[in-house]
Parts: sequence; C-alpha cells; structure tokens
Amino acid sequence: MTSDSSTPERILNDVDAFDRAFIDLNDRLGRYDDTDRDAAEIAALLELAPGARVLDAACGTGRMGAALQALGYEVVGADISREVIAEAERRSPGPTYIVADLTKPLELPPFDAVVNTYSSWGYGKTVEDDQQMLRVWNQALKPGGRLLMELSDLERSRHRLGTSGDVVTRVTNDVEEKLWVDWSTGMLHVTYSLDGVSVPIQIRMYEREDLQRMVSEAGFRDALLYGGYDRHEKRPEDRAVVVATR
Ligand SMILES: C[S@@+](CC[C@H](N)C(=O)[O-])C[C@H]1O[C@@H](n2cnc3c(N)ncnc32)[C@H](O)[C@@H]1O
Repeated sequence: MTSDSSTPERILNDVDAFDRAFIDLNDRLGRYDDTDRDAAEIAALLELAPGARVLDAACGTGRMGAALQALGYEVVGADISREVIAEAERRSPGPTYIVADLTKPLELPPFDAVVNTYSSWGYGKTVEDDQQMLRVWNQALKPGGRLLMELSDLERSRHRLGTSGDVVTRVTNDVEEKLWVDWSTGMLHVTYSLDGVSVPIQIRMYEREDLQRMVSEAGFRDALLYGGYDRHEKRPEDRAVVVATR
C-alpha cells in the first residue's frame, strides 16, 4: 500500500497492499465472474426482506455490494482503503460507500445484514484485532440481524498447499502467485506478480472451529459453517461460508 496521510490510522497487518496494483491483479485473475449469482444466493441464504439494509464490510471495489443493491437492497460499502473506495464509486455505483476502519464502532443506523465476502477478514495485526472486527459487526446489526462471511480457511490451505510450508507457485492469466503458509502463526502469504509489479498479501487463516467460536464470542448466536452459499457440507477444498445471527 502506498502511504497516504489521509488514510485512517491503520491496524492492518504489515503487508497491507490493497491499492491500484491489487485491483489490477484481481481484474486480470477474473475471480469475480460469479458475483451476480453469488449475490442472489447470499440474499436467499440470509432471507433478506425487500429493501433490507446491508453492510458490505471490507467491500473492496464494491462488486458484491453493487450486485446486492441491484437486487433491491440498501447497501453501504465500507473499506479502510481510500483507493479502493474511490474505485468502488467509479465502477460499482449504487451503494453508499464510506472509508472506515471496521475495528472501530460504526456510527450508522443499524443493519439487517453484514456481508463479508472473498476472504476479507483476517488482516488484523493480531487475533484480537480480528475478533474486534467481529464485535463491531455484531454491534452494527439490528437484533436478529444476520452475518455472512465467505472466506478461505486453514483446512483449505492444507488441501491446496500441503503442510510443509514450502512455496507453491501458480500462474493464471499471466498473474503469478507464490503462496505459502507459516504454520506456526496460521498466516497465509501470497505474492502476486504481473508485468514486473509484485504485490504481497498476508492474511491470518483460521480453522473452522475457531471461526465459529470467534463469531459466537463476538455476541452472535447460531454460528453455522457451510461449504458454499447452497449450504452444502464443507469439504477440504471448499471456501467456508459462516452465517450467524445477532
Ligand atoms: C479481498 S479485499 C475485498 C474483497 C471484497 N470484499 C469482494 O468481495 O470483492 C479485502 C479488503 O479488506 C479491506 N480491509 C482490511 N482491513 C480492514 C479494516 N480494518 N477495515 C476495513 N476494511 C479493511 C482491504 O482494504 C481490502 O479492500
């Protein structure tokens, strides 16, 4: 991440790189092709009422928030990065966008749902930072409001990368990814490279039991974990979908 004095005080981990280069890389990777279908499945899974207020937490460039808004919900997209929020306003119109550190309480009317997609949690410097973000989301919801998180977990890392800690290299659409897990900390390290530009990312991964426990400890009830928006049982290769109720 380029330094930017207008960015809120950061609690992100030391390899915080969600800037222009990251946006370009994700565009090239083409990972967001199923967004409209995913948004419809999320709405069904959360049983959102027409016009429900939805917080797209750590919204990035707003693709999921805009898809949910297009389905008739009132979406606020929040992200700590001014650069991605500026890009969200350009490319994903519809939602209201705000720059916010989601480890700090939100001064907004309460939401019916908080949606956090595409591994957009686990970037805190400490586990406590990650836990604090869950508490903030809990407090941002109306009683009975729903949380949905969609993210990779340690089980999936073991499946994809093994447990040796060795670097695994993949190339997709000219983007090179070097991935490895520090199994002593659970940190997944990824370095993306495209056209001579490298972007390093670090994200703390959790076991499924930890995800459910942390969500419960943040004040949610009925924390359930699936292997997809269709609620199938999670397999090692699946990303986790966690749903819970305030
Ligand atoms: C993987 S990207 C977003 C992807 C997006 N949710 C989607 O589904 O397309 C992760 C985002 O988390 C944001 N983020 C990380 N820590 C944050 C924090 N403390 N508060 C708000 N946003 C944060 C980053 O700025 C980045 O845009």
